[in-house]
Amino acid sequence: MAKVLVTPALPYANGAIHLGHLVEHVQVNVFVRALRMAGDEVLCVCGADSHGAPIEIAALKAGKAPERHAADIAAGHAASFARYLCDYDGGYGTTHSELNRQHAERIYLALKAQGHITRREVEQLQDPTDGRWLADRFVKGTCPKCQAKDQYGDSCEVCGSTYRATELIDPKSVITGATPRLAKSEHIFVKLGDFADRLRAFLAHEGVLHASQRHFLERWFEEGLKDWDVSRDGPYFGFNIPGEGNKFFYVWLDAPIGYVSLTEHATAGAWQAWWRDPKVAIHHFIGKDILYFHTLFWPAMLMATGDTLPSAVHVHGMLTVNGTKMSKSRGTFLNADDFAEVCEPQALRYYYAAKLGAEPDDIDLSFEDFVNRVNADLVNNVVNLVSRTVPQLHKVAGGRPAPLDERDPVVVAARARLAEVPALYRALDFAAAVRTVVEVGSVANKLLQDTAPWDVARTDPERARHILTTALWVGKSCLALLKPVVPALVEKLEGMLKVAPFTFDNALAPLSPDVAIGDYVRLFERLDLKKVQSVVKPTEPAPAPLAPAKGDQKKADHKKAPPVEAPPPAEIGIDEFLKVELRAAKVVSATAVEGSDKLIAVKLDVGPLGTRDIFAGLRPHVTPDALVGRTVVVVANLAPRKMKFGTSYGMMLAAGDVPVPLSAEGATPGDRIR
Ligand code: 2FM
Ligand code: ZN
Repeated sequence: MAKVLVTPALPYANGAIHLGHLVEHVQVNVFVRALRMAGDEVLCVCGADSHGAPIEIAALKAGKAPERHAADIAAGHAASFARYLCDYDGGYGTTHSELNRQHAERIYLALKAQGHITRREVEQLQDPTDGRWLADRFVKGTCPKCQAKDQYGDSCEVCGSTYRATELIDPKSVITGATPRLAKSEHIFVKLGDFADRLRAFLAHEGVLHASQRHFLERWFEEGLKDWDVSRDGPYFGFNIPGEGNKFFYVWLDAPIGYVSLTEHATAGAWQAWWRDPKVAIHHFIGKDILYFHTLFWPAMLMATGDTLPSAVHVHGMLTVNGTKMSKSRGTFLNADDFAEVCEPQALRYYYAAKLGAEPDDIDLSFEDFVNRVNADLVNNVVNLVSRTVPQLHKVAGGRPAPLDERDPVVVAARARLAEVPALYRALDFAAAVRTVVEVGSVANKLLQDTAPWDVARTDPERARHILTTALWVGKSCLALLKPVVPALVEKLEGMLKVAPFTFDNALAPLSPDVAIGDYVRLFERLDLKKVQSVVKPTEPAPAPLAPAKGDQKKADHKKAPPVEAPPPAEIGIDEFLKVELRAAKVVSATAVEGSDKLIAVKLDVGPLGTRDIFAGLRPHVTPDALVGRTVVVVANLAPRKMKFGTSYGMMLAAGDVPVPLSAEGATPGDRIR
């Protein structure tokens, strides 16, 4: 029996659970349930990632102490996960715990004792009103490259360039609105480079990382592993660094350590049985954006203490809703609880499972496809095998199934196909598992249609009983194998059929002719597209500073006033306008830029001008796939711009607050636009 520890990433305690989180948590929960059905000993832990400045800011906004705020948010997370039947051993915990403090200290002190800690001065912005050191995201100002206003301290959402917070023009603290000053402070670093060889060797192990992710690591190793700044000066919501006065561990140090402390909590102290036993396989599930932390920082910390390294870091894709990235303004940044109001949560589990293959591809939740698949494949197909047969079996045989005819070709074929399903779950190819079940279900539905046992019953009840038994057995077996995906539905079925809880061992067992099955109970409702669509409620958030700085009240009040109309743009002559070379261009390829929330790398065919590589800041609004093949408008004579992820040779034009690429459909690539 394998012993497996499974973790999803720990969600930040600064917001509610949304449908993006659920991709990962459903993936984890289906995996865990499947391993348990296979007989493995599995521990699965999770809790809120409760530290760091964003949570402190959110707490300030809510007018609560950060501990209280994080605990309240975590309680909300726990309730949302429970609705989606995602449960965690020891309950849904938190990184803000005494156990986590102890493990953070243990790991840090091991790094220090082994000489992997260094220190040096860092120049940073500081709020003069309260002495708070301001992380990049807590400063806003004017972009030093394109002069766009109201940009964060790390990158510009308008031109895509990246810079240091200290380069912002007219920076302001987002907490108080005050102008920060530059100051120096000593920070503590982990010398990640010390672990480079061991990390390379670890990551080369078969199965640790999906092949599609390896190139990131190669790039990081080629660039050289940089020292990692693990300290933040107080005030900071986190754990004090032992022996370092007002310094605190950066949230990303104690976040993954939460995997260990949550294990200790869940096992009443037996964490070493999971983190010091080389026979335990540790599986982390994460989004692509936190790969660096889980493949470099985290294993380095484990190496320092000799705790077990992960067997696998599984990466999943991003969620899009109806073809575009989830967007608050479009109302598609969907909260898990809101979604649960418009459809049974197991339907979403089913849909995600049906889309989650072994490749870390992005997943699109298209409402129409969602409703169609749940209704057609789950309700009208697999569940139908139960709802059509159980009442009939009561009519013809008092609810007693016939002995299963093992030579029936439908049974033989179903056994062969369904036997593959447990391994598909283990390989994380849930899409193939669901597909297999649905295909087998279709064969049995065809049997029902072709033989119409309800008609046969009038002349040959025993034959009708056999057909009904075969179809019910297929439906039962299919649903037993879908138990990791739709567990509550399948538990109802177990009750109705009066069988022991399904495992992968007994899933294909025949129903006993000696036990009369119970009355039919409805297992699942069809989804209603209109109701599902009603969850989308567009909104437009208005950012504002949290509290005015002392003496800055006027400015703060001014911020709340209605926006002042921008002055009309300066006039230019036609000659000046014609200097801008607008051309039609066809999108040849488009890929999301790894590590950027906004950028899409686009290859354009500009006819006689050849191909152009540009970066478009459209990721929040459009999926890369949706761009491919479109004819768009490009500024072809823009000087190349060096950006963090490469150089952009032109600019694709888009219009609107939620930018839509301008179409030049009908034009030939390279055509001049005037
Ligand atoms: O990216 C995030 O949402 C982090 N809160 C994930 C932390 S995972 C682990 F390290 F705790
Ligand atoms: Zn800019």
